Amino acid sequence: MSIKFDFNGLFDFNLGKNGVSKKELKKYYGTAKTAYLHLAGLLKNKGARVKLALEWFNLPAQDRKLILKIQKLGNEIAGKYENILSLGIGGSYLGLKAAQDALLSPYYNDFSEARGKRPRVYFEGNNLDPETLTVLLKNLNPKKTFVICISKSGETTETKAAFEIALGWLKKGAGKNYGRQVFAITDPKSGTLRKIVNRENGKDPLAFKNLPLLEGVGGRFSELNMGLLHLAIVGISLKEVLAGARAMAGRCLNPEVNKNPALMYALLHSILHKEKRMNLAILMPFSEQLKSTADWYIQLLAESTGKKFERTIIRESDGLEKWLAGKKVLNTGRTPVSARGTNDLHSIQQNNIEGENNKVVTFIKVGKFKHDLVIPDTRDFLAGKKYSKLLSIAQEGTEWALNRAGRPSCTLTLPEVNGFSWGELIFFFEMATAYEGELLNINAFDQPGVESYKNYMFYKLKKPGIKLEVAKEIEGNPVVKKDKYIF
Ligand code: PA5
Repeated sequence: MSIKFDFNGLFDFNLGKNGVSKKELKKYYGTAKTAYLHLAGLLKNKGARVKLALEWFNLPAQDRKLILKIQKLGNEIAGKYENILSLGIGGSYLGLKAAQDALLSPYYNDFSEARGKRPRVYFEGNNLDPETLTVLLKNLNPKKTFVICISKSGETTETKAAFEIALGWLKKGAGKNYGRQVFAITDPKSGTLRKIVNRENGKDPLAFKNLPLLEGVGGRFSELNMGLLHLAIVGISLKEVLAGARAMAGRCLNPEVNKNPALMYALLHSILHKEKRMNLAILMPFSEQLKSTADWYIQLLAESTGKKFERTIIRESDGLEKWLAGKKVLNTGRTPVSARGTNDLHSIQQNNIEGENNKVVTFIKVGKFKHDLVIPDTRDFLAGKKYSKLLSIAQEGTEWALNRAGRPSCTLTLPEVNGFSWGELIFFFEMATAYEGELLNINAFDQPGVESYKNYMFYKLKKPGIKLEVAKEIEGNPVVKKDKYIF
C-alpha cells in the first residue's frame, strides 16, 4: 500500500474563488508539461544530475552491495557503543532527526525497552548555544560513545566547533585510540573535515573511518546518502526505506499530471501562490512522530524555492546545461511553517481559520498506528472511543473547518508509518520541491541567501581568505542602532 493523495480541498468546487478552477488548471497544464519534460530529461542524464546537483534522484537506486555494507557497519557500531553523538546541521541533521522520530519508538532514548539493544542517539553541532553540548558531554561516558560528524562541505562552523569540542572530550576520556570512535561523512575531496579524516586515517586506518558523500547531492536532498549510517545503527532497514523512495520516484515521473502526485502538488500550490497569493505552506502531520519530518520539509522548501533571481539556462560545450542567476528579481518562494495536529489546533489554527487567507495547509494522516488506546467508561461521549479515531476525526474536523472558511488544504495519507512509507514521503517532497523550482524557473539546488550571515561571522572571526568586497560590504553597511530605540 502506498501513500494516498487527496487534493480536493484545493479546488474552487470546495472553496469558491479561493480555490483553483478548472480553467486555471487548464491554463497551467502547458507550464506543468514543460516543467515535467525539462526536469525528467535532466533526471535521466547522469552528467546533468551530477553537474546540477540532481544526483539525489538516483539515491533510491544505490548500489546494493554498498547498502549491505552500511547496514552491517551500523550493526557493528550499535553492538559496541551505548551512545551515538551525531554532529551536523541543516541537511546533515534534519533528515536524521526526522527518520529517528518517525521510525523509532517514541521515547527511544529514554527507555531501554524502546531501544532494543541499540544505542541512544544525541544530535549536536546544530547550534552554537553552549548549554546543550556542555551538559551532554558532562553526562556521557566517552568510552561508550561513538561520534559521527556529518558535513558535506566540511566547513560548517556549527559542526566544526562541536566536532573539535567532542574530539577534545574523547581524547581526554577514551584513551589513545579515541580516533577509532570517530566516523566522518563528508565530501570525498575537499573541506577541512576531509583533511582531518585523511590525516588521522593515514596515521591509523582504524581511526576516523568515513563514507564519502556522493557528488551532485545537495545537503537537504541527502538523507538517503548521509543519513544511511544513522539509520543502520538504530536498526532501520535501509532496503525498506530505499524501496519506498524508489516506488515514489516511479509515481513522480509519470508524464500525466493527474497521475503524478509531486507534479500535481507543485502545480496546484504554485497556482494558489501565483494567482491567489497563498504564500504560506503549513505542513501539519497528525502524528507526533512525523513532526520532525515537517521540520525537515521547512529546510527543503525554504532553501530550495526561497530565491531572489530567476534562473538563466545556458548550454555549454559539453552539451549540458549550466544554471546562472538571471537578472530578473523574483524574491519568490512560499514560506513553510511546520505544525502538528492536534497540538497546534490550540495555537496556529485560529490564525489558519480567521487570519490572513494566505496559506495552504498540507495534512499528513496516518491510517494505522502501532498502538492504540481506548478511553474507559467516562459516562460521556468519550467512553469507549479509540485515540486513533479521535485523532482522525480531529483531522477531518480541521479540514472541514478550513474548507468552510474558504481556506485551501490537501491531505497525504500514509497507510502506516514504516520505513517504506517514510521513504515514499520524503522522496515525494523532494520531487515536489524540484517541480516547484521548475515552475518558478529558479535554481532549487543552491542556497546563496545562507551565505551572508556566514560571511559576516567569518569576517568578524578573521577567517583567512575573506574577499575584499565582502569586507567592504560588511563595514560599509552596518545595522543602524539609535540609542532612543534601545531601552
Ligand atoms: O542544503 C544544504 O546544502 C545546506 O543547507 C546544508 O545542508 C547545511 O548548510 C549544512 O552544510 P554541511 O553539510 O556542508 O555542513
